[in-house]
Amino acid sequence: MAFNLLFPTPVWDVEPDEKNEKLISEIQKEVSSCITKIKSDKDYKSLSDFSDCDELGTVEKWRESNDKDFSLFSDRNVINEYKLENLQSYIQSKVEQFISTLRWTYLEDPDSKPMRGKEPSNYAIELYNCWVNITKRGLLNYHTHPHFQISGCYYHKISPGMGCIEFKCPNSFVANGAFPNGPHTPERIGIMPKEGSLILFPSWLEHGIGINETNEERISLSFNIKIN
Ligand SMILES: [Fe+2]
Repeated sequence: MAFNLLFPTPVWDVEPDEKNEKLISEIQKEVSSCITKIKSDKDYKSLSDFSDCDELGTVEKWRESNDKDFSLFSDRNVINEYKLENLQSYIQSKVEQFISTLRWTYLEDPDSKPMRGKEPSNYAIELYNCWVNITKRGLLNYHTHPHFQISGCYYHKISPGMGCIEFKCPNSFVANGAFPNGPHTPERIGIMPKEGSLILFPSWLEHGIGINETNEERISLSFNIKIN
């Protein structure tokens, strides 16, 4: 009898490498000028700026002490508004690969019949929203992104010590201690991204940001994808 690890959770950490070096450098440039513009415009609806949060807190606590009109699930899309064309096409191509790797097309019949009669290329991938996160000390705000299928984050400025992205085991029986932790049944898993990394994960997966132990800004762009 096989020993099975059932119900895996797909999380893809697309690291920068020599093949995409030039593209990532272009993306970094366009993101950098976008952030400069967002800051000079005081465009707080596109920005979750926690850099003045010098104590470890929660989003709610930060909202109470700030009058900045910011919604965590913003309707803003900085990729469209600031014309981040290289980042947009990079995300599009990686989301297509994510979908085809997961073989969503063939869920009904692994041998032949495509789900909903669609090939992967026929799915409409809608980059619904995108906003900038800046943290200094860090926030422990585990959350999901409801109403979407795929969520992700592009890391513009990050180094070890600035806090990883932490994913919580979606099985609540592990999380509440009814099933012991072990190498194959961890309660939490952290991934430390590199500058230029793109992380894609299911929107239902609970996640949070680790503590930024440095005095420098950790800057990332979060986004949500709708598959139609
Ligand atoms: Fe998130």
